[in-house]
Formats: sequence, structure tokens, C-alpha cells
Amino acid sequence: MKDFALTFDGFDPAEEGLREALTSTGNGYLCSRGTAEWEDADGVHYPGTYVHGIYNRETTILGGLPVLNEDLVNLPNWLVLKLRIEGEDAIRLADVELLSYRHELDIHQATVIRDLRFRDHAGRETTLRSRRFVSMADVHHAGIEWTLTPQNWSGRVELISAIDGRMTNKGVARYKPLEGRHLDPVSPRTFGPEVIALKVQTRQSNLYVSHAARTRVFEGEEPVAVERGLYQMEDYIHQVLAFDVHQGTPVRVEKMVAFINSRDPATSDTLERAGTSALRYSDFSDALQRHISASDELWRDCDMVVPGDDHVQLLLRLHIGHLMQVCSHHTVDLDAGVPARGLNGEAYRGHVFWDELYVYPFLTFRMPEVTRGLLMYRYRRLGAAQAAAHDAGLRGAMFPWQSGSDGKEETQRIHLNPLTGRWEPDLSHNQRHVSAAIFYNIWHYFQATNDLAFLADYGAEMMLEIARFWASIAVFNAERGRYEIHGVMGPDEFHEKYPGSTEGGLRNNAYTNVMVAWLCRLAHDVLSLLPKSRAEALCERLDLTDEELTSWEDMSRRMYVPFHDDGIISQFEGYEDLEELDWDAYRAKYGNIQRLDRILRAEGDDPNRYKLAKQADTVMLFFLFAEDELAEIFERLDYAYGPDTAHRNIVYYDRRTSHGSTLSFVTHAGVLAAYDPRSSWERFLVALESDLRDIQGGTTQEGIHMGVMCGTLDLVQRSYPRIHIRDGVLYFDPRLPRRLDGLRFAMTFRGTPLMVAFEGGCLRLSVHPEGVSRPVRVGIGSDVRDLCPGESTSFVLRNNGLAEPLVT
Ligand code: BGC
Repeated sequence: MKDFALTFDGFDPAEEGLREALTSTGNGYLCSRGTAEWEDADGVHYPGTYVHGIYNRETTILGGLPVLNEDLVNLPNWLVLKLRIEGEDAIRLADVELLSYRHELDIHQATVIRDLRFRDHAGRETTLRSRRFVSMADVHHAGIEWTLTPQNWSGRVELISAIDGRMTNKGVARYKPLEGRHLDPVSPRTFGPEVIALKVQTRQSNLYVSHAARTRVFEGEEPVAVERGLYQMEDYIHQVLAFDVHQGTPVRVEKMVAFINSRDPATSDTLERAGTSALRYSDFSDALQRHISASDELWRDCDMVVPGDDHVQLLLRLHIGHLMQVCSHHTVDLDAGVPARGLNGEAYRGHVFWDELYVYPFLTFRMPEVTRGLLMYRYRRLGAAQAAAHDAGLRGAMFPWQSGSDGKEETQRIHLNPLTGRWEPDLSHNQRHVSAAIFYNIWHYFQATNDLAFLADYGAEMMLEIARFWASIAVFNAERGRYEIHGVMGPDEFHEKYPGSTEGGLRNNAYTNVMVAWLCRLAHDVLSLLPKSRAEALCERLDLTDEELTSWEDMSRRMYVPFHDDGIISQFEGYEDLEELDWDAYRAKYGNIQRLDRILRAEGDDPNRYKLAKQADTVMLFFLFAEDELAEIFERLDYAYGPDTAHRNIVYYDRRTSHGSTLSFVTHAGVLAAYDPRSSWERFLVALESDLRDIQGGTTQEGIHMGVMCGTLDLVQRSYPRIHIRDGVLYFDPRLPRRLDGLRFAMTFRGTPLMVAFEGGCLRLSVHPEGVSRPVRVGIGSDVRDLCPGESTSFVLRNNGLAEPLVT
């Protein structure tokens, strides 16, 4: 199916890193880059395998100072398969003449395939087809199959099948000065003649990781008698399989691999378990079939069909496929968060940011149990967030901007500017808005699932502690009669402090303050949703007083929101005093000015001086809340919110945003959907293509952008059909771009699977007759209908549900 295949013809060393990231394969537990099996890390190729939760901390002495970093660890390379012909050096792409070469990700079957024909220095022509997968059916397994055909020669070959534990984290050039060794050797081992295994240990976090591989050779269905040799060191093991090949006769090599680490349940010794698993695992074709049928099942829930645009269709599927690599039902029990860069690169060190805000909406409407599992990652780190608040002299829970193993703040205090080569202070840990995002995520998970058990057992506690944190960081300004929040940053990372100030943070970031007003009201009300005994127990345990609840209620009415004189919401207090930047001049001088911060700093200037933004900040409000919700929040705060507030603010900030984070394209596409469909679609396409085209010039090879990939899916599911939930009703108000006409997708609302289809000017919603579905309520405007299992309903749409260009 061409709309499920991402294909690259011809080998291009400059593109290989990007392709490796785009063609990674994973199952929500483990993910490996799409590196060719026969290549080592060398500046062109970078084998990388990552498992949720395997982090390690190391210290680098930088300029005499100890710098501590926690990284998601690049684990032993299990891919290694190398071919030696007649005892010569192993074949590498750089050393042979490539007669044909194709590298493909079969997105539906989650399989990476390479097809090549090469001529070596002796004139021998060989074809090689490599296929591999990380099993969606058998979480601890993966398989590689090589089909090798000597085209114009016969002779003896040796295959080297290895597990290489000498890996370091060196996938991001900027991090080169920082310590990249995270693994200590433990031991190699064999399990019978066919299985090799290797155990390593993370150096500081003391996690054991074991891989085991069983390699066999077949001609047709018949096993080939191979001569086996073994070589092992403390951190490396390989087997050499020697056999004869004959011109025109294909041989198949199968390497079936098992992965176990000490975080896995039902494990005593990881090495023993990996070895016996590899011994018992089925052959490639059976294992592949199981993997394909498990993937099929996921696709039935997650696919989105866009009949009108093949390109958009393919990219949406690529993004769905990447989401599944990082978050699947296998992720639920892993105590995993959503690493901002997925599990196929080392940028941001595998840390978890607020980006999950962009990931959950698509996930929750398809695999709600996965969102629940990911939210539990936050719950288990509530203690660390409480400790962080306490250490800062505050109360409640202050979640870290960057989170890793144990929920401590992992944000670096210095950051390398690649334009200047200088390490500059990094104040981004002041992005306290991450705690508001976690609150928002919990509430929206509850809205979409009605999972009261989660709310009662975990969610409400986090919500209350987050509200308590905001109440403690807020100060009451008696003169204004308003609550204020100082010393924080909004999502816009170009503004870290006031120009010339030595102190980090800003006063009254509008996005943060409005979120706080919203969440204070909900936190006040959430207890009333819980069973009485649970609510009482929670209040007692958290020592929550009536005065606190009353103060939250008060904050929901009296948070301060700064405005310019002309009714524009100020991104933060004092924003209006900043200078305007000459955007045209900078564009003319530098072309791409997405990373204006680096450009300005390299010029000796300071982005803090200007009215500019890296990404949507104030505009986030219009992305996260429906128009009427936002109007209610502002009215409660006693601020004017007119019919043109959203549009005026979006236009104002759009002109002053460089979109230096691609998340910003998602947000702006979302908010423009209602006002400027054409511009919204342009942004959507930029976001959609941003990883494929690597628009930030080299970042995607360091890991795909999870938030953006999932954000594009959310735009199609939520922003264009304009879905929102109110009083338990799933409302639609579609303004689809023409290219999305005919859109179909499945979603689960409050436990009930729905089929959503836009066809012939109607919205058709159907509930599958089987299963344990309950009736759900769906609506457009005041037309609200009950939908029972086995029923469908059609709404006739105004303007066929398509967006109109803005008429002003
Ligand atoms: C963005 C943040 C984001 C982070 C991780 C940064 O460039 O500005 O908003 O959380 O990347 O994706």
C-alpha cells in the first residue's frame, strides 16, 4: 500500500541520520533506529536502541565544574549482522558499488526494509534484502531477516552476528563534551550452540540490561549446516557463521532477539531470562505474522483516512506509526513518560517535558489506558514534585520542567549555542507552566474517559497539590486587588528574564495566570466529584483546609492578567515596553530566523529586549480552550472578552513569533482553523512535514518530535472537526479544510468506540453493536443526541462542514 510506505531510493550519506530516525521500529517498550545492520557509529550511521525508563546519570567536569546530566541510555546494539565474502573485510556501503538501493519503512507492518544490489572490488554482485521488526505482539522480542543472493558468483561467506555493549551516547554533536559512557560490562554468555547473550549494567542507576540473539541460516525452509565460531569480550559477543553460497540461490539468515532488563516484571536474572526467551522464540515468519496481526489491531483503532490527499494521508500514518513505537499498550505498566523526542534519538536526553499535552488528545481517544499509564508516571513522581516545591519554600507539587527517572528537575543550567560555541545560562527550568499542563491533562483524560477511579485514586490528589503549589507561589497585590505570579517563564523560551536583569523569570505570564485561574476553580470543585469518603480522606491526608479551598476560589476570580492599552493580552507584565524587532531585516539577513535567540546572542544582543516569541505562548490559551470556555474564564476574572479577542491576539502574536519550536506551527494551525483556514492549512503542512523534511536543519536525526507528530494528528481529530466535551457531551462544530473532506477515523469516547465519518456534507457517527459499549451523547450546537450501541446518526453540516475563508 503506497500510503503506508515511506521509501528512500538511493543511498545518501548526508541523509542517513535523518532516515535512521524516520525509519525506526519500536513497540512502546523498546525502539531502535533504522540503522543498517552492518554499520557501526561513524558520523554517517548511528545505531541506537532505547527502552523506556532506562536512564543513567553521569557527571562531566566542564571548565573545572561538575555538570550532572541524566540520559536515556543507548543500549547494546543488537542489530549487528556483517557479511564477509571469502574471508575478506566485512561489506560496508562505503566500500562497494551500489547498483541499486532502497530503504523503506512499511508503516502498517512496522517493518524496516532495505533492498540492495552491490558489486564488490572483486566484481562479485550480490543482492541483499533485509527486513526487521520490533514485535508488537511479543514485547521482549525483535527479529531480523536477511535474504542474500550471490548473483554472479559462488563461494564461502561468513556472517558475523553480534551484540555490542560498547555503546555510548554520542548521537547529538552538541553534547560531545559531555560524558556519554553509561554502561558497564557484566558478562557475555552462550545458551547452546545458537544463542549468544550479553549483560550490561548502567553505571549509576544500576539497571541490568540483557540481550540475547539466536542466529540461523536457511535455504528455502531447510536449515543450512553452518560452521559456528565464537568471540567474546566482557562487553561484546559475536558468533561467526560460515557456509557456502551458490550463484542464484538465495539463503536466508534469521536473527531473533530477546531483551530483558531489571525493570521488567517477572524477572530474576535478566541474562538467564533473555537467553531462554531467545532459545524458545519462534522463527522469523511466525514471529512476523504475530507482529503484523498485533499491529493490525492497533491500526484498526488508530488509523485516520484522508481520501483527498495522498501526501497528507501518508504523513499522518507515519506520525501514527511513530506514536505507536513510543506509546502502545506495552507502555502502560512501564512507569514511562513521553520523551519529547520519542525513543529514537538522544536530543533532550530522553527527558519528559510538557509536550505530552500535545500527545494525549490523540492517544486518549484511542488508547485511554495508555494515557492513564503515562499519567501514572507523573503520579509516582508526586513526592519529588512536593519536595521540589518544599525546597523552593513553596507548598504543593512543583513538577520539573524536564523529568527523567525519579522526577527531579533535569533541566541543564547551561546550554550550548551552536552559533557561538559558547555555553550560556539556561533558565528554562522556570517554566512552571508544566504543572498547569499536567493538571489540564488529568482533567481532559477524565473528560474523555469518565474514569472516576483514576480521578479518585490519583488524579484528584495531583490536581489538588498542583493548585496548592500555584496558590503558594502567587502573591496578592493589594493595590491591584489581584493575585500575581512572579519569577516564571511561559512556553516562549526566548524570554527568560527582563532585559538587563540578573534574576531569571518574568512577572505575570498571561498564559500561566489564566491557566491558574482556570485550574483553581476546578481544583475547588473536583472534590465534589469524588465519593464523599474519598474526598474526606484526601482532605485529611493532604491537610486541606476550607480556607485553602476558599482562597483557590478567590484566585479563580482575581488572578491578574496584563493587557496592553489596546486590549491585547500582554504575554507578561512589561511586554508592551519591549522593542519591536525589524523582522524583515532579520529575514533578509539570515533567511531562516526560527532560532532568533541564537542569532541575536551571536550578535551580542539579547532576545529578552524584543517583542518576539519562540513559540505560541499567549496563543496557547486559544488552542487549549474552546471559545465559550475562555470567555467564561475571563468573565469570571472580570476582564473583557469580546468576539474578536481571540482573533486579534492570534494575529498580534503571530506577527511576532519565529516558530523556533515546531510545536508552534501546530498551535497556530489549531487556532487559525476558525479564522483563516488557508493560513491554518499552511501551518498544518509545515508541522506535518517538519520531521520528514527536517526543517530545523539536523534536529530530526537526533530524535523525532513526539509533540509535533501527535499534534498534527490532534489537529485532524480535534481542531478541524472542532471537537470539545462539555457536560459529558461530545460536541462537533466542523470546519474542515477541503483536503480533509471525506475524513474518517475511529475514536473511543467514555469507553464507547465510535466511528466518525465526514461524507456528503454530513457527519456520520456510529457505535459498533458489539462489546460493552454504553450509550454516549453527541451533538452539534443545541442538537444533542443519544447514541446507543449498534446505532448511527447523521448531522447535516452547515457549508458541508468545510471551512470558509475569513470574511472580515
Ligand atoms: C520547546 C519546548 C519543548 C521542548 C521539547 C523546546 O524547543 O520550546 O516547548 O517542550 O523543545 O520538545
